[in-house]
Amino acid sequence: MKNTIIPGLAGVIADRTTISTVGKSGLGLSYRGYSIEELTKEADFEEVAYLLLYGELPVKSELDAFRKRLTSLRGLPVPLKSILEQIPAGAHPMDVMRTGCSALGAMEPETSEAEQLKCVERLLATLPGMLLYWHHFHTSGKRIETVSDEERLACHFLNLLHGKSPTKEACNAVNVSFIIYAEHEFNASTFSARVTTSTRTDYHSAITAAIGTLKGPLHGGANEEAMKLIDRFSSPDEAEKEILQMLERKERIMGFGHRVYKEQADPRSDIIKAWSKKIAEDTGHELLYQVSERIEEVVLREKGLFANVDFYSASLYHMCGIPTVMFTPLFVFARAAGWSAHIIEQRATGRLIRPTAEYIGPKPRKFVPVEKR
Ligand code: COA
Repeated sequence: MKNTIIPGLAGVIADRTTISTVGKSGLGLSYRGYSIEELTKEADFEEVAYLLLYGELPVKSELDAFRKRLTSLRGLPVPLKSILEQIPAGAHPMDVMRTGCSALGAMEPETSEAEQLKCVERLLATLPGMLLYWHHFHTSGKRIETVSDEERLACHFLNLLHGKSPTKEACNAVNVSFIIYAEHEFNASTFSARVTTSTRTDYHSAITAAIGTLKGPLHGGANEEAMKLIDRFSSPDEAEKEILQMLERKERIMGFGHRVYKEQADPRSDIIKAWSKKIAEDTGHELLYQVSERIEEVVLREKGLFANVDFYSASLYHMCGIPTVMFTPLFVFARAAGWSAHIIEQRATGRLIRPTAEYIGPKPRKFVPVEKR
């Protein structure tokens, strides 16, 4: 094999997958052969999670049983609640997610691969509760019950966050965002989960690694950064002026650009943009939407960069009353389904992932004892 260095592994085909396609001609973005456009129009996040995990869309009885299991698994173990209480109020919610997942793995460990789907379902069911137990404890001193009557994960999250039933529109919008965030082939956090899994370690270790990877602003953390940017402007003209200056200073505009979507737009952006527009009209956030649209126009015109999934998700989440620091954890709730599908696939078909490096360090030299250095 020729020794070629490919920085960032750009374009490298690291393995085969049956889970999704990203930017492939004729397939676009698809999960197990179903297009993202169709899934976001027709399905619930729960159906999509089932599809990713079990390989096929569920029939009605399978979906009902899956929903029932997820709903019944939402309670948190008491020792996990006390760990969440000890995480400082000022911690980043992604640290809460990472610690919560790791702690659950210590309390309810996966003792064999036969238990993997049980662990997956338990984690999917508890992630929103972990975040919001910590949040309410530190903001109002309340020890909330992390259960609700809402069947869909999106509505359950909004219900726990706001302490009341969410509007149908907000529920549907967040549900769509969960579908588009659920899976995206060999992105950095999924690859991280696969590398971790390739050593034959446990499920929670792989997800904990993936959460840590997603947190970075070049990956999942971009939705939070995009909101901080949009929020700075009180008019589209002001946004245009500042974005031009940022580009002049060679600063990165968060929520734009993508490793795969360079010549073509990110299909997830169009879907979430349409929802952002709709919710903006419903909730009187037109200005926020107009500012976002102007930023998109300027970055495309000046740099040829398309908005990615994180840009319009940011304004959408804001309009649904979700605090900015919780945006990346919402990505976690959804992507946990994709990560889990990849962990299952890596275990079934993968090999230890261990590339190699070209050494460019010092030439051989003699060791000098510490007292003589
Ligand atoms: N704003 C401004 N310039 C950007 C940019 C952005 N968001 N994204 C890429 N560029 C520029 C880079 O500065 C670089 O310019 P140069 O060639 O003059 O140095 C060029 O485009 C290529 O960027 P590079 O970082 O090499 O591309 P990549 O494929 O490695 O990076 C991302 C992909 C996603 C890391 C990158 O586009 C980015 O940082 N985006 C912002 C973060 C983000 O939204 N992440 C979520 C992705 S879903």
